[in-house]
Amino acid sequence: MYLTKKDSHWEVRAPAKLNLLLEVLSRRDDGFHELETLMVPIGLFDTLSLRSQAAGRIELDCQWPSFGKPQGVAVAAGDFDAVPRDRSNLVVRAVELLQKTAGVAAGAAIRLVKRIPVAAGLGGGSSDAAAALVAASHAWNLGWSRERLSRLAAQLGSDVPFFLGPSAGHSSGAVCRGRGEKLEAAVHLGHLHFVVVRPPKGLSTAKVFAACQAADRHDAARAASRLVALLGALQAGKLALAGRLLHNRLQQSAAKLSSWIERLQEEFSRLDCLGHQMTGSGTSYFGLCRSARHARCVAARLRVRDVRSVYALSSCRLGMPVT
Ligand code: C5P
Repeated sequence: MYLTKKDSHWEVRAPAKLNLLLEVLSRRDDGFHELETLMVPIGLFDTLSLRSQAAGRIELDCQWPSFGKPQGVAVAAGDFDAVPRDRSNLVVRAVELLQKTAGVAAGAAIRLVKRIPVAAGLGGGSSDAAAALVAASHAWNLGWSRERLSRLAAQLGSDVPFFLGPSAGHSSGAVCRGRGEKLEAAVHLGHLHFVVVRPPKGLSTAKVFAACQAADRHDAARAASRLVALLGALQAGKLALAGRLLHNRLQQSAAKLSSWIERLQEEFSRLDCLGHQMTGSGTSYFGLCRSARHARCVAARLRVRDVRSVYALSSCRLGMPVT
């Protein structure tokens, strides 16, 4: 997340994310699932601008810059409809929650420029909500710490606290536990390169979790050592090993709901990525590449095979540099 002050408004670049490891440990009594996941932010950004306005009103204007343009392959028509401009948008709910909790009389005018596909497992809605909390807390001069904002973020969605980053400094990824909202360890993983495909249709997170069989005791123990091994491999730059350690338990359940997952698994197995899998609850699918150039080559080969909405992307930083 990158925050800039521009005249009367605050602008935040809100990144997407990939899950390099996602284990579903158990189903909880509250209906959520206990997770262990390693997430990295990637350089595909929505841009959120927010300025304070009088009379407590919160207004949202949302735009897709590439919508309708031939080169706008990233955005499916469904994405455009899927972003509500009213109170049901997580951005509006985030700003309202902060306004109410902090007892702020002012309102906010928000402009959201969307580039991250919706219902894609890329965390776009959660990242936008985190960006809105940060921008509003600055615009209203609240001086809230990241920990305090994180508590509100967790009420909005399981992934939202991740996008606020660690409480101090920056990182290039984080291990999250609980329902995903407990950012337990910030990690430095080096600069990673990916090719990401977004199928034309997304999936509902709730439906994918509902169709998932949680790990048994052996799987759970294996997940813990797999995470340690994956972090070690990434930190040592052993990318081929890291590629073999990628894992996402939700992939099987998503594959029951969308034929795209198997199709992409097959497409990727013909390519020379170091590893590949679905991200989050899908439907986006990614391959780990050796370099930015390798990611661009793989992306070009996928496009030749008529796979659309392909991005060559690199990891970026988590945290809030203010400029
Ligand atoms: O927290 P979030 O709004 O992203 O969750 C959306 C839905 O995904 C939840 O209502 C729940 O059905 C499911 N979910 C889950 N376990 C998690 C996170 C999400 O079952 N750890």
